[in-house]
Amino acid sequence: MKRSLIDISELTVEEIGRLISTAEDIIAHPSDYSERCRGKKLATLFFEPSTRTRLSFEAAMYELGGNVIGFSEAKSSSASKGESVADTAKVVSCYADIIAMRHPKEGAPLVAAVNASIPVINAGDGGHCHPTQTLADLFTIYREKGGFDGLTVGLCGDLKFGRTVHSLINALIRYKNVRFVLISPPELRLPQYMKEILDEKGVEYTETVGLDEAMASLDILYMTRVQQERFTSEEEYLRLRDSYILTPEKMKLGGPGLRVLHPLPRVNEISVEVDSDPRACYFRQVENGKYMRMALILMLLASDETPENPLLSPDLVRIGRCTNPRCISSVEQELAPLFRYVGGDPQKRRCIYCQSEG
Ligand code: NCD
Repeated sequence: MKRSLIDISELTVEEIGRLISTAEDIIAHPSDYSERCRGKKLATLFFEPSTRTRLSFEAAMYELGGNVIGFSEAKSSSASKGESVADTAKVVSCYADIIAMRHPKEGAPLVAAVNASIPVINAGDGGHCHPTQTLADLFTIYREKGGFDGLTVGLCGDLKFGRTVHSLINALIRYKNVRFVLISPPELRLPQYMKEILDEKGVEYTETVGLDEAMASLDILYMTRVQQERFTSEEEYLRLRDSYILTPEKMKLGGPGLRVLHPLPRVNEISVEVDSDPRACYFRQVENGKYMRMALILMLLASDETPENPLLSPDLVRIGRCTNPRCISSVEQELAPLFRYVGGDPQKRRCIYCQSEG
């Protein structure tokens, strides 16, 4: 197994700092980087639709002088013939130097990483994580606010299925005195396992339904789309989809230092009139993402680390199967079900692939 990026917490705060410095240097001296990946191939394995993330990875690799191979939907891959993620990863390792994988099943990029002989980057797995979006988010916050310590960050919308929210929280809890305002309808609250992480770390957070009341206190407002594709009931989606719409009137409730981020695509949770507000950063965020992906590709290709296979960790137990229908281990039955007890409590376990309580 090669050094990969499956979950943002695999990067230390120092490494995030170095990625930010590299991204800044790429912006300042693009021609110094234009040949760095000459002769290298990135494979973009996208089993789920994407515009931004896939094109951002592709643009990043081309700007480094490398090449790109891959597919942009599951039906044009052998997954449609029933090939396992593990086999796909082994095969692609023979053709490429690094993989960016998006998959609807949570834990699929982890399975790919332990089976590939090249680095694997998680480009979004189900409702679980999306670490490279977080790199885009962090670089944007850094450029707009100068740092992370002491920020009050409002996360608004679909906090249950929004994988970008989960990864961003996991990144920001490592900085000093960051507090969160979790703004969502009750049905789309942050999952329990994420709240446990906040509690374990002693991070201050409040949960609320009201966006208006929160606006004045925020340094960052991270808006998200209600994740239609993760709902099992269309009726429920339609009921919740318009829970929050950020308008110029609502923006008046925020301070001059407020910055609005959104991973995009936007549906209607931010009205287009907000785009001309200088506090709206979501299109700058897209560009920042490309530079951070360039920095990440360079870092992983240069790494000679050979990490331990996390699926072979001695503290894992095999009891029952994960019941999360979005977990890769509930679809690929040959994968060993693996759990870790939380805080030594034998009543409480988390699936190693999707982190749900299984
Ligand atoms: C996000 C994703 O795919 O999770 N989009 C992205 O990568 N920029 C957010 C979303 O789809 O809502």
